[in-house]
Amino acid sequence: MKDKIGQLKSQFEKSAAEVKTLSDLEQLEMGFLGRKNGLLTLAMKDLKSLPKEEIPAAGQLINEVKNFVIAKIEEIKSKITGGESISSFDYSLPGSNQPNGHLHLVTHAIEEIASIFTKIGFVRERYPEVDWDYYAFETLNMPGDHPARDEWETFFIDGEPIKMHLADSSLKLTDKGKRILTPHTSNGQVREMEKKKLPIRMMNISKTYRRQSDASHAPMFHQFEGLVVDKGINITHLKGTIEYFVKNFFGEDREIRLRPHHFQFTEPSFEVDISCGFCHGKGIVDGQKCKICKDGWLELAGAGMVHPNVLKAGGIDPKIYSGFAFGWGVERCYLMKSGLNIDDIRLLYKNDLRFLEQF
Ligand code: FA5
Repeated sequence: MKDKIGQLKSQFEKSAAEVKTLSDLEQLEMGFLGRKNGLLTLAMKDLKSLPKEEIPAAGQLINEVKNFVIAKIEEIKSKITGGESISSFDYSLPGSNQPNGHLHLVTHAIEEIASIFTKIGFVRERYPEVDWDYYAFETLNMPGDHPARDEWETFFIDGEPIKMHLADSSLKLTDKGKRILTPHTSNGQVREMEKKKLPIRMMNISKTYRRQSDASHAPMFHQFEGLVVDKGINITHLKGTIEYFVKNFFGEDREIRLRPHHFQFTEPSFEVDISCGFCHGKGIVDGQKCKICKDGWLELAGAGMVHPNVLKAGGIDPKIYSGFAFGWGVERCYLMKSGLNIDDIRLLYKNDLRFLEQF
């Protein structure tokens, strides 16, 4: 009997060395400890056949092997399950919290900008971000190969230029040209006019794309564009609206300056500067030139009175109606407002959580 039990132990050790999965282990456990046919259970039953005086010693030996088998099975189980004892898992413990995400800072800026303009009657509209040349250039007074089109450094989409009917169902086939990734939000101007709902107070906030990539230019960035068309609109309305936005977004102490500029689709045209928040418009900090602006002003937008040719392209009579429009870069506005002194605008889109989690 002693030999037989010794052989059972060796047989167990050999099989245990081959166990790889929990299911292997279950089979091994059944094979030795199973209630009906487990080898150790059967050995226990066999004790009856021994002479009376040998039973206690043999019983003790079987129990020792049984305890060894039980301990070994526990040890293998904890190795397979990564050290975590399944039976000791406390299901009543509270779960661990998942880290909270938050909206991207540019999304926050867009929401704030939209809410400032909706308070004064602007309605947010959406237009295609992949649009026809017709809306991004042609109807904006930049026909054919006008050199001004080069300034937008546009991405063109493969495919033949097409002709389509105009929205006013004049049934005149119009050349809509190639498809492009919108280089500015001004593509919404004539699209809005084509809706034939006057007066217009439109806000278009959208992604824009240009072949530019350096510290102050991202190849994909956002612009927000305002368009107002009504009877009797003049430059004071444009200036008042921009001032209202700047005071609400950047703070009461910020000033604006309209600098004469040239855009094909507005006349007169301006670039919009706001006073620098870092040097308070002085251009100097501690006797040194301000690092943010150099002369006290920061250029953030283009603006102007809608060109009569653009109104005509949108089916609006420029003798009756006039309008103004402006287009700003969202990212640049956000960076100026937050006072974030980051030296590369592209950081906003690197998706580096160490950067984004700070906001
Ligand atoms: C325009 O895009 C005109 N459509 C603006 C306009 C609208 C003028 C309506 C008149 C009437 P501009 O190319 O200057 O203009 O761009 C406007 C603003 O977008 C810039 O002042 C700047 O804030 C931002 N911007 C331009 N290119 C980039 C870029 N690559 N990365 C980040 N911001 C940019």
